[in-house]
Amino acid sequence: MLNISRPRRNRKTPAIRNLIRETSLTSHDLIAPLFVIEGKNLREPIHSMPGISRLSIDLLIQECRELQALGVPCVSLFPAIEEKLKDARATEAYNPQGLYQRAIREVKSALPELLIMTDVALDPYSSEGHDGLVDPKSGEILNDATLEVLAKMSLVQAKSGSDILGPSDMMDGRIGFIRDALDEENLVNTSIMSYAAKYASAFYGPFRDALGSAPKKGDKKTYQMDYANVREALREAYLDESEGADILMVKPGLPYLDVIKTIRDNTTLPMAAYNVSGEYAMVKAAAEKGWIDGDKVMIEMLWSFKRAGSDMILTYFAKEAARLLNNH
Ligand code: PBG
Repeated sequence: MLNISRPRRNRKTPAIRNLIRETSLTSHDLIAPLFVIEGKNLREPIHSMPGISRLSIDLLIQECRELQALGVPCVSLFPAIEEKLKDARATEAYNPQGLYQRAIREVKSALPELLIMTDVALDPYSSEGHDGLVDPKSGEILNDATLEVLAKMSLVQAKSGSDILGPSDMMDGRIGFIRDALDEENLVNTSIMSYAAKYASAFYGPFRDALGSAPKKGDKKTYQMDYANVREALREAYLDESEGADILMVKPGLPYLDVIKTIRDNTTLPMAAYNVSGEYAMVKAAAEKGWIDGDKVMIEMLWSFKRAGSDMILTYFAKEAARLLNNH
C-alpha cells in the first residue's frame, strides 16, 4: 500500500525538528511577577508557592537584576501592604510615598532598562479585600466610583516609573478612563496591558495567601468572569482594545487556552497569558512528590501559551525557565 504522507519524516532527527518547529519560547517572552514588602534584607517565603518569597526593596532589586541578566525583559510588581494601612477607600493605593511607589522608583533607578509592569486594582490596599470600592450598605462593588481611584493609582504609578500599567480589577470602562487620565497629564508613553478576560478563579488561592488579600466577604463574581463563558471574553477584549489597551491578557492561563486562541484570532494586538499562582503550585506540589518531572512539565506548560497565540507569559517560573531555556 502506498503511504506518501509520513509525518514522521519531519521528526526523524533533532535537526529537522528544529527546522520545522512552529513556535518559539525564550527568556525574552517571560514576565516575572514579584512580591514586595516593607523592611530591609527581608525574604519571607510563601508556603503555597515553593521557591517564591516576598522581598524587601533591596532584595527585590537584586532579584530584578538577576532576571534581567537572564534575559527576562519585564517584572510585574505586587505589594504586600500592612493590615494597619488598609482602609475601605484603599487610600494607600495612591500614596506617593507608599511602599509600592518607592519600590517602583528604586527598581527603575537601579535598572532603567528593565520594564516595570504594575498592578492597578484596590485589593492589596482595601480592608474589604475587593478590587473595587464596596457600598457599605448593599455590599455592591461600585463601578464608576472605583474608576476614580484606579485613575489616581495609575497616575502615581506612571509618575513613579511604571512602564506598563496592568489594570486587573475588571471594572467596566477602566481602560478608557485610565488612558484619558494618563494622556491629560501627557503620560502618553505609559502602556496599558489590560487584564481583558480575567475569570473568577480558584487558581488565585496562593496569590491571595501571598498578599493577604482574600475578600473579607463574598466573592469576585460580579466583576470577574464566569468560567463557563468564552464569547463574553471576546466582548471584553473588543472593549479594552477600543478603549486603548496596548496588550490584552487572559487570566488564568492553563485552563483558558481556548480563550487565548479565540481572542488571538480576533485581534491584531499583542497578547499575554497569566500562568497564575495555583497553576504554579500544582506543578511544584506534584514535582515535590516525585509524581512528575517539574522542569519538563514547566517548559511544556509555558510552550502551550505560545502555541495558543500568546506573545508573552507572566509566570512565577520566569527565573527557573529562563535558566533552562538559556542553557539549551
Ligand atoms: C488582584 C489580582 C489577583 C491576581 C493578580 N491580581 C487575585 C485576585 O483577583 O483575587 C492573581 C494572580 C495569581 O494568582 O497568580 N487584583
